[in-house]
Amino acid sequence: MRHMMSPLDLTVEELDDLLHLASDIEKNPDKYAHACDRKKLATCFYEPSTRTRLSFEAAMQNLGGSVLGFSSADSSSAAKGESVSDTIRVISCYADICAIRHPKEGAALVASSKSGIPVINAGDGGHQHPTQTLTDLMTIHSLKGRLSDLTIGLCGDLKFGRTVHSLIHALIRYPNIKFVLISPEELRIPSYIRQDVLEKHKIPFVEMERLEDAMPDLDILYMTRVQKERFFNEEDYVRMKDFYILTKEKLALAKEDMLVLHPLPRVNEISVEVDDDPRAVYFKQVQYGVYIRMALILTLLKWKEEP
Ligand code: CP
Repeated sequence: MRHMMSPLDLTVEELDDLLHLASDIEKNPDKYAHACDRKKLATCFYEPSTRTRLSFEAAMQNLGGSVLGFSSADSSSAAKGESVSDTIRVISCYADICAIRHPKEGAALVASSKSGIPVINAGDGGHQHPTQTLTDLMTIHSLKGRLSDLTIGLCGDLKFGRTVHSLIHALIRYPNIKFVLISPEELRIPSYIRQDVLEKHKIPFVEMERLEDAMPDLDILYMTRVQKERFFNEEDYVRMKDFYILTKEKLALAKEDMLVLHPLPRVNEISVEVDDDPRAVYFKQVQYGVYIRMALILTLLKWKEEP
C-alpha cells in the first residue's frame, strides 16, 4: 500500500502522471464525478487548517466520495491520551484513505506504519507538507509551462516553513533550478537542507536578507508567513513577523512574468494592494490544490479509467 509522506515518495515520472491527471480533472470534472462513489476520506487534523483540510474534503466530495474526521486534537480522543498509532488503527476501520496533520515531525510516518489504509501527510510540524508542494508544482507547471530553468526566490521563515522544505526537495530533481533564499539571519534555512540537500546535490543557491536585491532575477517569488506556532517565545515572533512585506513598489522591481506564490494563510507579508496584480497567483494556487488532491486520492486508491 502506498502512502504520501514526502514529495520524494513520487518519482519524477509519477509526478508527471499526477500533474497530467490533475490537469485532466481541471478540464473534465464530470468524468471524475463518481470515481470515488462509496469511498470515504478521513481528515485527522491535530493542528488548525483551512485550505488543506477543506480542499481534501472538497476533493473527495468532487469525486463522489464522502468525508469524516476531526479538526482539532481537543475534539478527538487524543485529548484523553490516545496515541496516533491507535487512532489510525481505528480510522482504518471507518475510512478508505486518511489525511493527517500533526504538530510533531514524523507523526504521519508513525501513522502510516500502523495503518490499514493509505495515509497522506497533511503537514507534520516544521518538517514536510507534501500536498502543498504538489499544489505549488501544479501552479508553476500550469502557469509557467515548465518546472525546469527557473530562478526561485523563497522568502520569509525558511527555518520553520515546512512548505519551503518540501518544495526544495521536489524542485531539485528538475534541470537548471536556482534558489535565492531570502530571510533574516534567525530564520535561515536549516543546515540539514542547506548541506544535505542543496550542497550535496550541487544546486546553485544564494542566501540574502533584502527582498529588493533579489527581486529582478526571479521567475518565481514564494512568500511565506512567519510560523508563529513554532516560536518558543512571543517576543521573538513579534520582532520577526513583519520583516518582509511585499508591496506594489517592491513588485515593480520584478520581471513582467514573475509569479508570486504563497501557501497561505497570509498575515502581513503580502500587502492586499498586490492582490490585483496579474503576477499574484496565490488564490489560483488554492484552486489548483483541489485538482491535485483529487488526483492524489485517485492515485493512492489505485483508480483506473474505464476502458
Ligand atoms: N497552506 C496551508 O497548509 O494552509 P492551511 O494551514 O489553512 O491548511
